[in-house]
Amino acid sequence: MSAKQDGREIPKHIAVIMDGNGRWAKQKGAMRSFGHRSGVQAVREITEGCSELGVDYLTLYAFSTENWSRPQKEVDGLMSLLIKTIEMELSTLMKNSIRLTAIGDLKGLATGVHKKLLGAIDVTSRNKGLNLILALNYSGKWDLTQACRSICGEVIKGTIKPEAIDENLLSDHLSTKRIPDPALLIRTSGEMRISNFLLWQLAYTEFFFTEILWPDFRKKHLNLAIDSFNRRERRFGKTSEQLDLK
Ligand code: IPE
Ligand code: IPE
Ligand code: MG
Repeated sequence: MSAKQDGREIPKHIAVIMDGNGRWAKQKGAMRSFGHRSGVQAVREITEGCSELGVDYLTLYAFSTENWSRPQKEVDGLMSLLIKTIEMELSTLMKNSIRLTAIGDLKGLATGVHKKLLGAIDVTSRNKGLNLILALNYSGKWDLTQACRSICGEVIKGTIKPEAIDENLLSDHLSTKRIPDPALLIRTSGEMRISNFLLWQLAYTEFFFTEILWPDFRKKHLNLAIDSFNRRERRFGKTSEQLDLK
C-alpha cells in the first residue's frame, strides 16, 4: 500500500527526468555547467521532499546513454559534478537513512566515477529510509537488451525453459528488479517525451509535465505533481464503473 499524507495517496515510486539545466543557464547568460551545478539544489530538495512524504523509491535520470554525444567538456563536467555531489551529500544520506543505488550500464562509466558510486552504494546499503536510485549511463533500450541477453544465456545453460519466459521473468532481469514500477513520472522543462528512460517500467505510469526548469524545481512543485496524481483515475484497462464497485 502507498503511504497517505493529508488524505493524499503518496506514490510508492516517483521517477524524474531532470531536464532544462542548459536552458536555465542560458536564460541567465551563464554557461551550461552553471545550470548543472545549480540543478544539485533541486536534487537535494526533491530527495528531502520524497523522504519526508514517505515515498519508498525515487529514481532520478541523471545521465542517459545518449548524453555521451554532448561536447566532451560538458560530459567531463557532469561526471566530475557527480563525483563531487556524492562526496558532499554522503553525510546527509546517512543522516536521513537514505539508501543509494544506481541503474544503467555502470561499467561504461569512468573508473573514478564508478568507484565513488559503488563506495556510496555500499556505505548506504543498510539504510532503511528512501531508496534513491540514480539512472546513470541508462537507456530503456539498453535495459531491455541486457535483460534479453541474460535470459538467453540462462536458456542456453538450461536454467530457464523458453516456456517459462513471461512478464515477471523479464521484469526480474531488468536493472530495476525488485523495484515496483513508478506510479508517477515527472519531467521538467516542458519537453514531453520519454528520452529512452524506463520504457518497460513506465507502461502504466501517470505522467506529469511541467514547464519549470530543473534548477528551479522545489518541494512545492513536487507537491503539485502529487496533487495532480491524486486527481487521476488509474483504471488499468477497467471502466470507471468497475472501480466504483470496489
Ligand atoms: C538536464 O538538463 C541534465 C542532463 C541531461 C544531464 P539539460 O542539460 O538537458 O538541459 P537543456 O535541456 O539543454 O536545457
Ligand atoms: C534526458 O534529458 C536525460 C536526462 C535527464 C539525464 P535530455 O535533455 O538528454 O533529453 P533529450 O535528448 O532532449 O530528449
Ligand atoms: Mg535536456
